[in-house]
Amino acid sequence: MSETSLRSRAVEALTEEEASAELAALAAEIAHHDEAYHRQDAPEITDAAYDALVRRNRAIEARFPDLIREDSPSRKVGAETAEGFAKLRHGVPMLSLDNAFGDSDFLEFTASVRRFLRLGVEEPLAFVGEPKIDGLSINLLYEDGVFIRGATRGDGMEGEDVSRNLLTLPESELPRRLQGLAPARIEIRGEVFMEKADFLAYRAQQAQAAAEREERRRRGEKLGPAIVVPVNPRNAAAGSLRQLDPAITAQRPLKLFAYAMGEASAAPAETHAGWLDQLRAWGFRVNPASETLEGEEAALAFQKRMAEGRAALPYDIDGVVYKLDRLDWQRRLGFVGRAPRWAIAWKFPAEQAETVLLDIEIQVGRTGALTPRAVMQPVGVGGVMVTHASLHNEDEIARKDVRIGDTVVLQRAGDVIPQIVSVVLEKRPPGAVPFVFPDRCPACGSHAIRPNGEVVKRCTGGLICPAQTVERLIHFARRNAMDIEGLGEENIQALHDAGLVKTPAEIFRIKDHAATIRGWEGWGGKDAKRLTNLLAAIEARRRVPLERFIFALGIRRIGEANAKLLARHYHSFAEWRAKMVAATTIGSEAREELGSIQGIGPAIATELAEFFAEARNRAALDDLAREVTPEDAVVAAAADSPFAGKVIVFTGSLEAMSRDEAEAQAERLGAKVTKSVSKKTDFVVVGADAGSKAKKAAELGLRVLTETEWREMAGLA
Ligand code: IVH
Repeated sequence: MSETSLRSRAVEALTEEEASAELAALAAEIAHHDEAYHRQDAPEITDAAYDALVRRNRAIEARFPDLIREDSPSRKVGAETAEGFAKLRHGVPMLSLDNAFGDSDFLEFTASVRRFLRLGVEEPLAFVGEPKIDGLSINLLYEDGVFIRGATRGDGMEGEDVSRNLLTLPESELPRRLQGLAPARIEIRGEVFMEKADFLAYRAQQAQAAAEREERRRRGEKLGPAIVVPVNPRNAAAGSLRQLDPAITAQRPLKLFAYAMGEASAAPAETHAGWLDQLRAWGFRVNPASETLEGEEAALAFQKRMAEGRAALPYDIDGVVYKLDRLDWQRRLGFVGRAPRWAIAWKFPAEQAETVLLDIEIQVGRTGALTPRAVMQPVGVGGVMVTHASLHNEDEIARKDVRIGDTVVLQRAGDVIPQIVSVVLEKRPPGAVPFVFPDRCPACGSHAIRPNGEVVKRCTGGLICPAQTVERLIHFARRNAMDIEGLGEENIQALHDAGLVKTPAEIFRIKDHAATIRGWEGWGGKDAKRLTNLLAAIEARRRVPLERFIFALGIRRIGEANAKLLARHYHSFAEWRAKMVAATTIGSEAREELGSIQGIGPAIATELAEFFAEARNRAALDDLAREVTPEDAVVAAAADSPFAGKVIVFTGSLEAMSRDEAEAQAERLGAKVTKSVSKKTDFVVVGADAGSKAKKAAELGLRVLTETEWREMAGLA
């Protein structure tokens, strides 16, 4: 029986053998998700789905206690520490909480507390209710009232020493010195988190950085570290606190609520409520929504109030935590497994709602990526009106078979970003057709392609696509491309927004709008030099080396190195352009030649061909070439070499240098190196064991050189 079909079976119906197999599978699966959640900060499933796995595991273990495994998830807390941080042992283990998912779970919890303490039903039982913030729990050690260090929870016994990062939090969040009297040694526990608004701003900033990195990748430039776009505030807080560079943590708006005690050399209070007061007096922030609740009924009402008020809170909560108020009772109750008997977390269900999918829009990113977005009939999910949801990419739409007109189930993951979970097939309107992902860019109409092995479809209208214009212009003007001084992002955006510059060629016509620009704030009067300097910088780039010109076009995968290869191979702009146009025909001689250039290869040849296949790209390029003169790529010293402008083929193995080096040398001398011999070949250098190429050269009557002859002519001998 497969795992999934097993999992849908009632625990009561499982045989011992089946239970054992399922516990093994659950241990592995839960460990995997723990790793993704705690160490990678990249959860793959919702909290609700994770909780379901844990509950299933616990239910099976309750029925088959003999089958509880060494590596059972119920024996573990969180995950082991990530490399890079020193490990710190907690004075008292940091445990987690058992979950309640409804009134009956909660009443079962209070009943077991009463049983344990031998309290009658009429005996009053007071709790403190606190919002359960979805952040990262932290353990802070104070000695004689002074902050010593702080650690994450880690595996519950040992966490990561994140003291340096914690010290970037303001004093108002993390007191460096406790106000008033403090015990000799005390561990204070709380939650580090990010507020919703801060999270949204931070996520937008990361998404932008990721897009820029993608653009650099597109251009074949150096990348730097990967950029994580956090999916929820918990994720963002965890990623920020576990930065190896505290300067990065310092830029993130982290907050801290204190709510528990670990090791303490003296008991600072008699009740949990009293303890929270003490924390406040010491200078910590304690969640103002925390309340003392007399009896079960008041406790249940607290949960309802919090669930209703949830959306209005500035931070995300995923439930509430109930703690028995009397600390002496807490001590008597103690712990079982990984959780205290005196506290429980009431988890809110994942917020879902059904609505109708009205349309699937395709957005074009600044780098030409086509991203689908669901447009929905507005619906409230957890108090927030939702009208759009992400659909990620073409494959995801196909996998979920989402069709326009479908009724879909929406869920707000981490309470912020809505996602389409599934389609309600029973409600599919007759005639609904599978969504066809467009193969044209909705912004400019250019062909959109999806290279082999990639998930993202991209617009090929690089030079003309309005969605990509600004990004392209910034690239065009930058230092290692056209190097137009003073034409940075800010000026480009301003010129673009004013409608003066949409294509690279138009940069060279800015001077025609000088009067207009001088009328802008910050450009006229005493700032007139700004424009004068900019125009001078532009004029200075009317002639540029061909390789810079090619690189500046921002064609996908044509970074500086590849631009150089192309310039050296084709020498002149006219030749390059003509060959690129010819190469748009698959199987053409020009395409073969392009693909056979050392370092280019068929995949990059395809990108170039796609660019040149778009007539409007060609028009924009020609327009630019009327403004700018790309200089031929024959190096001065090579101009008078016997190989300048000649086509050369190396075949067989050379003695004095590798073939790669010989080819590079020939290119430096101005030659075009190709792989195959044809009528157009000028020289064939024949090394040892040369095969068919040498024969063909002889047949065509081409000039054949021995290695020694080649070295002499190249000035290497
Ligand atoms: S008390 C032994 N109080 O929830 C008691 N935890 O599921 C330990 N959490 O690891 C925790 N808000 O990260 C407590 N008011 C609160 C909390 C809270 C959020 C988190 C905490 C803990 C997890 C347990």
